[in-house]
Amino acid sequence: MALGPRICQDRAAMNIDKAVNIEDLRRMAKRHLPRVCFDFIEGGLEDEHGIAHNESAFSRHKLTPRYLVDVSERDQSTTLFGRRYALPFGIAPTGLIGLFRRGGDLMLAEAARDANVPFIMSGASTASIESAAKVAPEHAWYQLYAAREMRISEDIIRRAADAGLSTLVLTVDVPINSKRERNIRNGFTRPYKLTRSAVLEALTHPTWIAEYLRHGGMPVIENWRPYAKPGANAAEIAEFVSTQTPSTQTWRELEAYRRLWPRKFVVKGVLHIDDARRAAEMGVDGLMVSNHGGRQLDRAPAPLDVLLQINQAVGNRVAVMFDSGIRRGSDIVIARCLGARYVFTGRATLYGCAAGGKPGAARAITILKDEIDRVLAQLGCPRFDDLGPDWLMSERG
Ligand SMILES: Cc1cc2nc3c(=O)[nH]c(=O)nc-3n(C[C@H](O)[C@H](O)[C@H](O)COP(=O)(O)O)c2cc1C
Repeated sequence: MALGPRICQDRAAMNIDKAVNIEDLRRMAKRHLPRVCFDFIEGGLEDEHGIAHNESAFSRHKLTPRYLVDVSERDQSTTLFGRRYALPFGIAPTGLIGLFRRGGDLMLAEAARDANVPFIMSGASTASIESAAKVAPEHAWYQLYAAREMRISEDIIRRAADAGLSTLVLTVDVPINSKRERNIRNGFTRPYKLTRSAVLEALTHPTWIAEYLRHGGMPVIENWRPYAKPGANAAEIAEFVSTQTPSTQTWRELEAYRRLWPRKFVVKGVLHIDDARRAAEMGVDGLMVSNHGGRQLDRAPAPLDVLLQINQAVGNRVAVMFDSGIRRGSDIVIARCLGARYVFTGRATLYGCAAGGKPGAARAITILKDEIDRVLAQLGCPRFDDLGPDWLMSERG
């Protein structure tokens, strides 16, 4: 009996090594998870145009190789905020990870630490800031979902600073909850009441169910525990979080958070050049050009389509970073050619973690690293840092 979960985990780990690409990890995650969970990860909103745009944006760019170059040694390391990272991509914040893989937040943090890349803990994480700082003191950043009550945001910022985290990421593209139709159909929206078919379908994923029950059911959105009523359970804490977020944020609040946070400050979710300029003028250190992986505004532009323009406008003042739609190493190379100082992956690493825990997250990183390495060699550009627009042949969007 006690051996059951261990055997299942070992089997998952074995399969993880067989994953050749991110799509393989995606399929493994899909098999492991109940539909309600997989849909939460996979879904966009409304017609899911945003997800399709993110993908098609990459296909408009081709990489032009230069041969007869010595590529016997390749280097992907890159500097961001004065720190040398081994790879040009890190892990974007994703909420509720514990629902897909118990302890998954810290598994991703450890995988990032081992690979020497940043890990951004979500404002809706299922582990605490303090625990992330413990396992990955040099690599963990924190993403703030600002609360309606300023005192809560202030306290979360203080905790992240006290824990020694280097970077605070303010997500600005969630002024309200978006219309995620998969979640609505599954009953995975407030008030949470899963549909009968979602519950029955979940029962066909015994490994996931066993893990869920073994850990006492719903995971806790840990960072919010201190602000909910004393002794609140996971459901009550989730309910409390939904009374505090999403909250309306303006430039005034951004200025306040900037002033409160003593270290590197990043704004995530910027898509308009004027917003990028204004944020730069307010003294932010970095911008993440992102459409939240196509999860907030279905008709938003693909971040890749505005990246070059934003980089040209503010790239000399702030670190312009990128996420949304990364599934291949070549996507990361293309984003770099269009000016991304650094790139983040959301679903790619989350599929790995959901499918196989820490080894799965590490596998996703290795797959992308290996793909980048091959692309650099094939391009005749052995140093990632040397990539730029000259390597691209682009069609008009
Ligand atoms: C399941 C899931 C949960 C997410 N949770 C958050 C979050 O808590 N905070 C946030 O800023 N972004 C969140 N995002 C968006 C990611 O940080 C990132 O912008 C997006 O996943 C990038 O697109 P990609 O998944 O195509 O790589 C989430 C994305 C997914 C897929």
